[in-house]
Amino acid sequence: MQKNLVVENCFEEQKEYCNKIKEISKKIYKKDTPLAFVRTYGCQQNVSDGEKIKGMLSEMGYSFTDDEKEANFILFNTCAIREHAQDKVFGNVGALKHIKRANPETIIALCGCMTEQEHVIERIKESYPFVDLVFGTHSLQYFPMLLHNVMNNNERLFDTTSIDERIFEGIPVRRDGAIKAWLPIMYGCNNFCSYCIVPYVRGRERSRRAEDIIEEAKELINSGYKDITLLGQNVNSYGNNLEDGINFAELLRRIDDIDGEYTIRFMTSHPKDATRELIDTIAQSKHISSHFHLPFQSGNNRVLKAMNRKYTREKYLEIINYAKSKIKDVSLTSDVIVGFPGETYEEFQDTISLIKEVGFSSLFMFIYSPRVGTPAAKLPDIISKEEKKRWFKELVDTQEKISARVLSNLVGKNMKVLVESKGDKSGLVARTSGNIVVEMDGSEDLIGKFKDIEIIESKNYVLKGKLL
Ligand code: SAH
Ligand code: SF4
Ligand code: F3S
Repeated sequence: MQKNLVVENCFEEQKEYCNKIKEISKKIYKKDTPLAFVRTYGCQQNVSDGEKIKGMLSEMGYSFTDDEKEANFILFNTCAIREHAQDKVFGNVGALKHIKRANPETIIALCGCMTEQEHVIERIKESYPFVDLVFGTHSLQYFPMLLHNVMNNNERLFDTTSIDERIFEGIPVRRDGAIKAWLPIMYGCNNFCSYCIVPYVRGRERSRRAEDIIEEAKELINSGYKDITLLGQNVNSYGNNLEDGINFAELLRRIDDIDGEYTIRFMTSHPKDATRELIDTIAQSKHISSHFHLPFQSGNNRVLKAMNRKYTREKYLEIINYAKSKIKDVSLTSDVIVGFPGETYEEFQDTISLIKEVGFSSLFMFIYSPRVGTPAAKLPDIISKEEKKRWFKELVDTQEKISARVLSNLVGKNMKVLVESKGDKSGLVARTSGNIVVEMDGSEDLIGKFKDIEIIESKNYVLKGKLL
């Protein structure tokens, strides 16, 4: 029983295009398994989309390479969140010109959040003639058909579909890891924070059906995944478009009921919708991590209002304090923006005082970047870049001391960690339930296992542990 939700299983018809591409590839590239290079920028949602793109490419007979020069197909899955992210993509796309010149048969494609913006499309059309295929986040599920059309007609294709009220199930996924997995529970965003491009490039918020999510979680757990992150721009509004009345806390409880040894994480939570019910659910669960990522963006109420965040500093601190009181060893992290248009140094000091009061274990800090078409981009902004960089440095220096203190408080404690990989030089890298990285000694056969350790040392953002 859904309202405003159309769930489609689109991949059966796309399979035909996958088979056709296999045939065309044999003719063009003279090989059975052509090579694809896929690079993803941006957030976990994009990483998850990248895994679907790779799943679809596998169906088309491609295998993968890290070397652009030997690839028959090159795709950049782009991010538009800040100017810097976008510039990086344009720079790297520009460099592909030489590859196309050396191998005219290589197909070059762009997708993701950048390509949902008209001014970006225009720029690619005019200044990057060697880009063959461009498609937005709303066309992801038609990728085989689009690529087929480019190969078959031998002409450039720009797909700018803007229909975004549908959910597509059944797209194959080729996951990057065997221990950690991303599990999207919803798409899009309705919040329109005044600085943010995401609602414009990802469309309206829509939640997947709980039964589809639980099925996927079961499959992941049964095939050995140990650390599953539920994804959405605002997971706390999960279920708003579903008629069965399910909310995020209830979804978490249903997933938590699945048998097995695993950790559930989620991101991102919006403070305006973070409830005591959610915190209680985390506190009482068997599998939900003790990590709570709750972006606050600014510690000043006037700036929060201008950002259209719909909560106050006081409301934010109230939910944080409730989490501290209920969740054992909770690890708090957040996102913050420095230099929002009109922000004064005094208002910025409210951000500094908030981080001191909360004690985040780590913090993602950004200098405000104007995005075309957002309300904030039209606001007067008189503070110079240099001045904003000074504020940013003050924030980074303050947070470094806070993280060092928060992590040093963990020394001497015993904890369960998930061993994730080999270290860069030696030893192993593990992660606490609170999402803090731990370096430790041990043999490689511990990778993928939960182990009890003692924390013996702390650095700024990393802990050292020893097996118990
Ligand atoms: N949906 C999530 C995060 C989205 S983007 C949330 O609401 O928390 C991740 C972070 O990028 C945001 O939390 C914000 O801190 C930052 N960000 C978004 N737009 C930005 C902009 N225009 N300039 C600088 N930072 C930005
Ligand atoms: Fe952007 Fe706000 Fe939506 Fe997050 S909640 S994606 S910051 S508009
Ligand atoms: Fe970037 Fe799009 Fe994510 S803009 S941060 S990749 S939703």
